[in-house]
This record gives sequence, structure tokens and C-alpha cells, in this order.
Amino acid sequence: MLLAQMRLCSLGNKVKFLKTIPSSKTLGFSTSAKMALKFKNAKRIEGIDSNVWIEFTKLAADPSVVNLGQGLPDISPPSYVKEALSEVAFTDSLNQYTRGFGHPSLVKALSCLYGKCYQKQIDPNKEILVTVGAYGSLFSAIQGLVDEGDEVIIMVPFYDCYEPMIKMAGATPVFIPLRSKPVSGKKWSSSDWTLDPQELESKFNSKTKAIILNTPHNPFGKVYTREELQVIADLCIKYDILCISDEVYEWLVYTGNKHIKIATFPGMWERTVTIGSAGKTFSVTGWKLGWSIGPHHLIKHLQTVQQNTIYTCPTPLQEALAQAFWIDIKRMDAPECYFNSLPKELEVKRDRMAHLLESVGLKPIVPDGGYFIIADVSSLDADLSDMKSNEPYDYKFVKWMTKNKKLSAIPVSAFCNSETKPQFEKFVRFCFIKKDSTLDAAEEIIKAWITQKS
Ligand SMILES: Cc1ncc(COP(=O)(O)O)c(C=O)c1O
Repeated sequence: MLLAQMRLCSLGNKVKFLKTIPSSKTLGFSTSAKMALKFKNAKRIEGIDSNVWIEFTKLAADPSVVNLGQGLPDISPPSYVKEALSEVAFTDSLNQYTRGFGHPSLVKALSCLYGKCYQKQIDPNKEILVTVGAYGSLFSAIQGLVDEGDEVIIMVPFYDCYEPMIKMAGATPVFIPLRSKPVSGKKWSSSDWTLDPQELESKFNSKTKAIILNTPHNPFGKVYTREELQVIADLCIKYDILCISDEVYEWLVYTGNKHIKIATFPGMWERTVTIGSAGKTFSVTGWKLGWSIGPHHLIKHLQTVQQNTIYTCPTPLQEALAQAFWIDIKRMDAPECYFNSLPKELEVKRDRMAHLLESVGLKPIVPDGGYFIIADVSSLDADLSDMKSNEPYDYKFVKWMTKNKKLSAIPVSAFCNSETKPQFEKFVRFCFIKKDSTLDAAEEIIKAWITQKS
């Protein structure tokens, strides 16, 4: 009855609805429950209301918890980056709106930096868009280039926002899982996880509009090799599709590995949008600045989305970021350049975490890049009987560990579509861009836990 009246209302018969609806008291419905029924969510956000960061960041907010969850550095960002920000606040004009597609000094710095990486000139005004974090670039790229009815291929596990962003555009995500070769005896590496080229090709069809690549990869830390990228590039060209390449961890690659940009492959520049992040580049995730780089015929559509959504990013942050970039652009080959010094610092932390996880009998997937390490935690035999039963194993495990051991992490099945969750639900992700004291605290917890168990 109530629903029928609601329907009348949504047909525009507001007067009738107001006259005939019984009071909320007689029906036992509160006003807010009635309103929630009346003002239902837009279809485009149906089913995407849960979010791993919201859920697990809240749990880790307890100060007694050692937080190896969200990709959030607790190391200090470089001092010249912080100084630049504190200084720009005193220039009045830098406290006002700036150019919508990117502050002039920042797009100039980005064009100089990426001109070197791509070995080609990049037009700062037409081939770069500065966005609210890499999220903003992903959103503008998908909204600007993907249509209703299109299909977009994503590799599982994937950074969680790809799937809802594709759905919000009215398109369909098509999933292809990374699979591991059997490993016995030797260390398990992120490079053991690969795509099967035939399986990948089977995902392409006439509806395919784009593929999203993420290298170095979150959560596995996989750094795609030239050969692997060539397979993807060949398919993009064969099926004439776009590539959205999320490269936010581009500087974070460890000894023996090299980050390669797919946009530099023959035939790929014109079909690729490459995405970067200030948060990941300079360990300032709170700045929420990112960028998209690509040919003008693609970037102009991202610019259209941005000019009609957020319009522009904060000026002082963009100016400070430009100044920081100029410092490191001038010393790119020197060890003190942050692009070189941060991966060196993190490699030690990666090895420490890998060693710690191995020392308690786990078999971590040692990453070649990024700042996360994954381990299968099922052998820890945590007693999860008190946890909600309808959640994947890793969700229950991380909630249990946060509550009982005061250590937080992120469940890897959060990076999976519903069909592939069972394949990855025994894994959890630990973030290691942390001070030594934070890693010491995590080590103490893990070692005490194992001693208690045995
Ligand atoms: C793979 C990947 N893409 C995009 C983002 C979002 O980056 P930003 O904070 O710059 O929006 C993240 C953040 O963790 C990420 O790991």
C-alpha cells in the first residue's frame, strides 16, 4: 500500500500522495524511512555502496591499532615538498582559482618530466590534465571515453574503484585473473603472477572499448615486463581499443625491475591515457593531486568531464608540487632524487616485511614494485567463529586481527569481482611505507601471536 502510494508520488501525483498517505505514526514508519523510500538512489550507484577504504579505515582509526592497512605513508614526506607548500600560502594570487585543466607551472613541470620519460614533446596544455588524485583521472577517463553498453577489461585483482567507475558509466567490466605458476621451494614473487595470453584475448570482442592496466600493480606489486606489455599492446591495436594505464607507483620499482610505459610502444601513444599521482610520487597522499597524460584527441574528453564536474584543483598544492618536481627533475640521475631514493628506502622495508612473514611460516608474494606485500594467512588458523559468516575469509580475518591483535591490513578479495573473490580470499595485504618504529610494533605483534600459538 505504502509502496503503491510512493509510486503515485514518483509519477508526479504529489497531491494525491500527500492526501492519502497515513501518518508515519500509524504505519510505524519514521519520516526518514519514508523519505529513504521516496528518494531512492540513482540507478547508476545501485549496488556500489560498500567501500573497503571506508570500512577498514574506520576500524584502523583506533590509536592502539598498528595500521598496515590503507596505502598511507607514515614516513615524513621530503622537507622541500613541505617547505614549498608552506611558502606558497604567502603569495596572495596562489590562494585563488587557477587554470581549470592544470596550474600552468605544474603542467609545465609535468610536460618536462614526462617528455624525458616518453622521449617526446608533451604539450602541457593539450596533453595533460591535472585532477583530484589519480581517482579524478580514472573517473574523467572512464566518464569521458566509455559509453553505455561498452565493455572494459580489468585484471584481477584490481584497484577497487575500477569496477564501480565502469558501472557508473553504464558499461560492463570484464575480468581476467592473474594466475600464479606453481612455486615450490623458492620465494613466491609477484612476477609469478601472469596473464594467460589466450585467455586475455578471449575477453576482447566488438563491444570492448578499453583495458585498464595497472603497473606497478596494487595489490600484488607486479611490474609488467616488456614482453607482457607487448601482448597487451598487440591486442589493443588488433581490436582497436583504448588503454587506461594506472601507473601511480611508477617510481617504486625494486632491484632487477624496470617500470615500462605502455604508451611508449609503437601504436600505443594515440590510444593510451597514462595516470600518475602526487600522493604516491612524493608520499603526500593527503594532497590528492593526480594527472592524466595522453594525446589531445583523448585528453580533451577528460578535460570536458573535469570542467563540468570539479572544474579545478587547489592552486597552492599544484604550485608546491610544481616546485618539488623541478627540484627532482634537475637531479633525476642522482641518488638523492626522490624518485631514486624512495625505492631504495622501501626495498629495505619490503625485505624486512618479507622476512618477518616468512619467519612466522607464511609464504609472502614478494613484490617487485609498489609498497604492499601479500600473504596467504590461512595457515595462522585464526578462530573466526565469532565473525559474521557471510563475508569472505579475508574480511573476517582482518576484522578479527584488528580487534584481537591490534594490527590492521586490507583483505585482498576487496580487489576482486564477486566471482573471483573465492580465488583470493586467503590473502591479505600489508602496507610497508611505514616508519621503522611502526614496522617494529607490527613485528612484535606478529611474533608474540606466533609464540602464543605454539
Ligand atoms: C593503483 C592505484 N590507483 C589509483 C589510486 C588513487 O590514487 P590517488 O590517491 O592519487 O587518488 C591508488 C591509491 O592507492 C592506487 O593504489
